[in-house]
Amino acid sequence: MSVHKSVKKITTHVLQEMKRNGEKIAMLTAYDFTMAKILDQAGIDILLVGDSASNVMAGHETTLPITLNEMIYHAAGVVRATERCLVVVDMPFGSYQGNSKEALTSAIRIMKESGGHSIKMEGGREIVESIERILTAGIPVMGHLGLTPQSIYKFGTYTVRAKEEEEAQRLIEDAKLLEETGCFAIVLEKVPAALAAKVAQEVEVPIIGIGAGNGVDGQVLVTHDMLGMNQEFSPRFLRRYANLAEDMDLAVKSYIGDVRSKDFPNESEQY
Ligand code: KIV
Repeated sequence: MSVHKSVKKITTHVLQEMKRNGEKIAMLTAYDFTMAKILDQAGIDILLVGDSASNVMAGHETTLPITLNEMIYHAAGVVRATERCLVVVDMPFGSYQGNSKEALTSAIRIMKESGGHSIKMEGGREIVESIERILTAGIPVMGHLGLTPQSIYKFGTYTVRAKEEEEAQRLIEDAKLLEETGCFAIVLEKVPAALAAKVAQEVEVPIIGIGAGNGVDGQVLVTHDMLGMNQEFSPRFLRRYANLAEDMDLAVKSYIGDVRSKDFPNESEQY
């Protein structure tokens, strides 16, 4: 029997066993109770309370403005909704880059106040000291390499990363370093498929791709994008599995029509 079908609860160890067994890992984002409940009950392996909440939930242009308190608020709702999946919570910009003590304090707040099962941090060698310190407190850490949106003002664009040999080599070294340090998995965002597949072969921990091709150990998408709730964002890597923006528009227009025509509520819908 496949590993993911034989367990009641997804843990970091289950994910690693899934990789060894050649089973792909399915991960999506969630920022609230209602959505998280639907995704967990559908059988998703990992829910990421991503700092993309900054864009999706709050309407900011980048992920930088979201605060630690706001991340904890979103994560607590997601944790309350879920029974089976592993909940990973993004450490927001400014909560870990200062020094390793600050990073540990932020990670502890997330675990204690939201009940999340693990945290995710963007970066390679430059944050290894913080990752080590967080791991010593027993907090599982997921890495994030390639396009790291918290550094958007350093890179200047959201284009594909590590196309040149030097950056690709650095990324491979960083992935190995994150594995050696003890990260249980690594997100690889927007890098060439061949490079991502090489990384997935060269490290034993699961590599979860977004815009990183099919040669990795799992995939992640922003739920609101894959459900078609966000019509403006159409990168090549995004597959839309529904068109909820259109469905919701039709539903809301029907409701408005029914209210105006006095069709709603009818006799059976009142007391
Ligand atoms: O914040 C987020 O949604 C993410 C995913 C895109 C991996 O980090």
